Amino acid sequence: MSTQVKARRLAPKNFRKGGEPYVCLTAYSAPMARLLDPHVDLLLVGDSVGMVVYGFDTTIPVSLDIMIAHGAAVMRGSQRACVVVDMPFGSYQESPEQAYRNAAAILQRTGCSAVKLEGGVEMGDTVEFLTRRGIAVCGHVGLMPQSVNISGLQAKGREAEEANKVVADARAIAAAGAFAVVVEGTYEDVARKITSELPVPTIGIGASAACDGQVLVLDDMLGLFTEFKPRFVRRYAELATDISRAVEEYAADVRARRFPAAEHCYTRQPSDQ
Ligand code: KIV
Repeated sequence: MSTQVKARRLAPKNFRKGGEPYVCLTAYSAPMARLLDPHVDLLLVGDSVGMVVYGFDTTIPVSLDIMIAHGAAVMRGSQRACVVVDMPFGSYQESPEQAYRNAAAILQRTGCSAVKLEGGVEMGDTVEFLTRRGIAVCGHVGLMPQSVNISGLQAKGREAEEANKVVADARAIAAAGAFAVVVEGTYEDVARKITSELPVPTIGIGASAACDGQVLVLDDMLGLFTEFKPRFVRRYAELATDISRAVEEYAADVRARRFPAAEHCYTRQPSDQ
């Protein structure tokens, strides 16, 4: 019998305010989850998978099956981070019952700890319906990519009215029982107000250092997704350049018959005879 003690996963109920900032990244595959898991508190299987992996222009075409497949892969690759899976567009907005059915499918088929959904005051009833029935929910307010056709992708809260709306949205989602709230694309004063008022941690993306944690899209911070770099992203690697260089070298080696070399070929040993 193995004596190895399995690491305990950080549970949504253990997310608290006031400690070190929470470190969060998106992940979409088992090998990446394995690499990230020792360093992060939360792995978000974001519906950004649609843009960075599947090449969609927005997150709107992402299906429940896509989220479940990637959520299950990230669970297989991780041991200790809290894994949260995004509810895709159209899987929760219709009614609390629809949201419950699809959130339950995500939890049952991936084994993840929580779901995330976008929306503010208008989603309060749904978040309450889920959390009262045992489903941990992470909210997502401010810039909401699934609403791209209504409100675009620019930062929210420039004018007082819009800033007040972002704050009211965050309040409503926290009051409905969310264990954490992602605050995306807003101004520092708005993020600071939300963070100081909410009883649960805020996780910022493009929302300044005033939040209780930070999340980035993995491919952005690794320099894999280079079409454009949002202002709030810091690149910690330039993997797109490294990959291009590696593939160029491989192509040149194959064409010049430098690869495979003798050490890459099977040779018969006398014992094989
Ligand atoms: O889908 C995603 O990656 C997200 C992050 C931007 C927070 O929701």
